[in-house]
Amino acid sequence: MQKNQKIQTFKKIDAPDLPLIEIRNLTKYYKTAAGETLALNGVNLSILRGEFVAVIGKSGAGKSTLVNLISGINQPTSGEVLFQGDPIHSLDEDRKARWRGKNLGIVFQFFQLLPSLNLIENITIPMDLCRSFPFRQQKARALQLLEQVGIAEHAYKLPSKISGGQQQRVAIARALANDPELIVADEPTGNLDSRTAAEIFTLFAELVDHGKTILVVSHDKEIAKYATRIVELSDGEIIADYPAPSPVDSASSKNASSTSPKPLSPSNHALGYSGGAV
Ligand SMILES: Nc1ncnc2c1ncn2[C@@H]1O[C@H](COP(=O)(O)OP(=O)(O)O)[C@@H](O)[C@H]1O
Ligand SMILES: [Mg+2]
Repeated sequence: MQKNQKIQTFKKIDAPDLPLIEIRNLTKYYKTAAGETLALNGVNLSILRGEFVAVIGKSGAGKSTLVNLISGINQPTSGEVLFQGDPIHSLDEDRKARWRGKNLGIVFQFFQLLPSLNLIENITIPMDLCRSFPFRQQKARALQLLEQVGIAEHAYKLPSKISGGQQQRVAIARALANDPELIVADEPTGNLDSRTAAEIFTLFAELVDHGKTILVVSHDKEIAKYATRIVELSDGEIIADYPAPSPVDSASSKNASSTSPKPLSPSNHALGYSGGAV
């Protein structure tokens, strides 16, 4: 009994294999005037540290619902979302916001930068909100992050003065501001041309190499060249879950092949990947 208690107490420190995210029997109904829509139907999923998970599936499959439940933006109808074993779904809004600010970086399709603030100021906002870094360090950190995403020379420009791809890089730098473990992105390249999309995916793959865990929803078949694992949704259910065929040559790819918990066979209608590493 005592032994068990001890294991429980130390499980987060001594169990690096504890999933970063674990979803148990997650169900989401949306209630509208027209009736109820079942958007997610009892989904189970574990995501380990260092995975680059691509969520794919047709429009309406439940992809956005899944990531919004993981990021605590939406509340499940039933089921559990655990982050390093801690239940996120049962936190009140204040605590959830604090948890999100510290542990999660979110990247949106339309960048969502504040138009009247320059790039550095956009990136220091999350640091201010979470008080994660002292004020005197924030600007230097923002510059360092802009350098990491390759656009430090634009640091003092407004978002409207740079391209869409560059804006998404800023949004990624902002997502990294508080040094979160997990980056979540819903169609981050949906508004970008294919060359720029490839650059953004490459950037994500680099972040995974540096220890981040990434969950990306994407329609872009090219994502299979960068992700380590593909999860396919259809009608609110996971219909395939498998290691990406040939991820970029990186530490993350090795990680994924040994950690993906359910290497189901790819469905024929999943990504038509055929190329080599980029
Ligand atoms: N806020 C909402 N209110 C009502 N129905 C919704 C809402 N958001 C999504 N849905 C419905 O839930 C289902 C899944 O949607 P979504 O998660 O957005 O799918 P995807 O991101 O894969 O396109 C769809 O049938 C969609 O119409
Ligand atoms: Mg969506």
